[in-house]
Amino acid sequence: MSINQPKKRILSGVQPSGKLHLGNYFGAVRQHIELHHSAECFLFIADYHSLTTIHDAKTLRENTSDVALDYLALGLNPEKAIFFRQSDVPEVTELAWIFSTVTNMGLLERAVSFKEKIEKGIDASVGLFYYPILMAADILIYRSTLVPVGKDQIQHVEMTQDIAGKFNRTYANIFPIPEYKLDKESKVPGIDGQKMSKSYGNTIEIFAEGKALEKKVMSIVTDSTPVADPKDHQKCNVYTLYSLFASEEEKKQLAEKYQAGGMGYGEAKKSLLAKINTYFETARIKRKELAANPGVVEEILRDGARKARAEARATIDLVRDAVGMKNYLNA
Ligand code: ADP
Ligand code: TRP
Repeated sequence: MSINQPKKRILSGVQPSGKLHLGNYFGAVRQHIELHHSAECFLFIADYHSLTTIHDAKTLRENTSDVALDYLALGLNPEKAIFFRQSDVPEVTELAWIFSTVTNMGLLERAVSFKEKIEKGIDASVGLFYYPILMAADILIYRSTLVPVGKDQIQHVEMTQDIAGKFNRTYANIFPIPEYKLDKESKVPGIDGQKMSKSYGNTIEIFAEGKALEKKVMSIVTDSTPVADPKDHQKCNVYTLYSLFASEEEKKQLAEKYQAGGMGYGEAKKSLLAKINTYFETARIKRKELAANPGVVEEILRDGARKARAEARATIDLVRDAVGMKNYLNA
């Protein structure tokens, strides 16, 4: 049995765990969207993974559809990237099971993300523990070679490398060993200055607009330097967020205003608000159009799933053969 193995295949997944925020955008989404212009790219909504934290069908469905709308509105081109829901390719859970039988408990026990989630109060379900194996199956079932991820996910890609190596040595050399690619912005601050995160309730949502967005931006925490005094732009959250949107020249101009004194933080916040509004203007229009046409979005996801599933089936057939099974019913 032979299989088409592309030289470079990029894959990433995003959990449908709530509304996307600026941290997600600059830390992950933007890079996902840029990368799909450079090579073959698979991008999926990791709804199976979200079952480790979301136990409400309506929420999961809404979040999944939100993420699909967000990515498409922000520029993901479904002609270029294969965009799909993880659960539309159930073969991935079969591969995860087979991987679990060649994975040592010790490997999973070292997972930092599992320990951190438990510390945050998430239930220590078997699924949460097994999560890195499902992630390995996500990556390897499409025989992906490059995985863009945030810092917190690097260990999971390293585990994937171990699992692929172990399977290849035990049975047959089926899987390429994937590399990770670290996302650029590792820490976008939230409105309170800590890392922006849903779990801290300090986010600015990408698709917030009008009064709701203004309220968020105006509540960014700053120090109490009086308006007339010079201010340190490098220590200011408003400036850090502004920098994400601004050109070098615009950053320089705002930094000079901070240093000169006479500018209150309110004015800097207004500049940031204007930047956010301009930056996401087209995406907001596109999102509303897509939201009004759920059939179009659904067809994009189904089409992506059909393509992804064909690849997954080819891998699973090889794996079944290697471990001593067959695709007996030719499913
Ligand atoms: P949250 O912390 O809001 O739950 P997730 O953990 O779901 O966000 O993160 C999804 C992706 O977005 C990951 O790749 C993560 O690295 C990235 N990300 C999240 N928050 C930030 C942030 N404040 N700065 C940079 N990247 C972030
Ligand atoms: N675990 C990733 C996260 O929480 C999401 C994910 C699931 C993923 N499967 C993947 C990312 C495969 C990259 C590759 O962000």
